[in-house]
Amino acid sequence: MIQSSMVNPKISHRPTICYRPIQPSDLEILEQIHSDLFPVRYESEFFQNVVNGRDIVSWAAVDRSRPNGKSDEPIGFVTARIVLAKDSEIADLLSYDSTKVDQTLVYILTLGVVEAYRNLGIATALIHEVIKYASSIPVCRAVYLHVISYNNPAIHLYKKMSFKCVRRLQGFYFINGQHYDSYLFVFYLNGGRSPCSPLEFVTFVVNCMKTGLKSVAAKLIKNEDKGVRLPKHKETRRLISTQNKRMIKTESSGGEYV
Ligand SMILES: CC(C)(COP(=O)(O)OP(=O)(O)OC[C@H]1O[C@@H](n2cnc3c(N)ncnc32)[C@H](O)[C@@H]1OP(=O)(O)O)[C@@H](O)C(=O)NCCC(=O)NCCS
Repeated sequence: MIQSSMVNPKISHRPTICYRPIQPSDLEILEQIHSDLFPVRYESEFFQNVVNGRDIVSWAAVDRSRPNGKSDEPIGFVTARIVLAKDSEIADLLSYDSTKVDQTLVYILTLGVVEAYRNLGIATALIHEVIKYASSIPVCRAVYLHVISYNNPAIHLYKKMSFKCVRRLQGFYFINGQHYDSYLFVFYLNGGRSPCSPLEFVTFVVNCMKTGLKSVAAKLIKNEDKGVRLPKHKETRRLISTQNKRMIKTESSGGEYV
């Protein structure tokens, strides 16, 4: 159990945050927080499975200093499920022996922290719990999750925690009659990362091209120094080279989202 104590201007006391498994007595508050935080409704079966630990692992954050008998009431949570690597949508991104059918992944289903307790590192600690748990399973190759494309606090959080954004899925979510894209984030574990994913290969080729362009430019500059006359279209060449660099930069930083 992790414990921390910090100051939060949104609550009138100094919180003492602890992390524990979710338990049956959390059912009502868990349903309430999910309905407050998410634009989609979860089935009651989902909550039953969470609180009873049926195929789902979960942690709650509680504030032990919270007054009015609420010192064991969840103010944050994370829920996750173990899935088989071979059946998952990221099977192609993993380095694992496909003949070993028991390879697994941990998929984060829901994560949330009530507003008054945000930006205190609680979600970070909850994800650490999931990573610690997943790492302790020798056949587990990664922790992964989906996030809606406009959820900047969550995207910031996953990137900060070294999750890799491996895909953008068009229209993945359908909420109130509208489609929204999602990003797929992966945290590789136990040698789960493929030695060379297609994205890394493209990045490698682009970098080689970039290096090649640089060395051509360096040679031209050297020749210029030596007084060698350059062809008339040199400015165009330089312009193209600069534009390429800008494109490459955009592609490789944006490439994280492929
Ligand atoms: C996403 C969420 C779980 C984060 O919880 P949290 O306990 O506040 O997270 P942490 O305190 O561990 O980290 C928050 C980070 O996000 C940053 N952040 C907060 N608001 C942000 C914003 N609008 N844009 C970008 N970053 C933001 C914080 O600065 C902090 O980063 P830092 O440590 O580098 O300063 C919480 O905002 C939440 O419950 N949102 C609603 C439910 C949700 O979106 N769940 C995720 C579904 S995938």
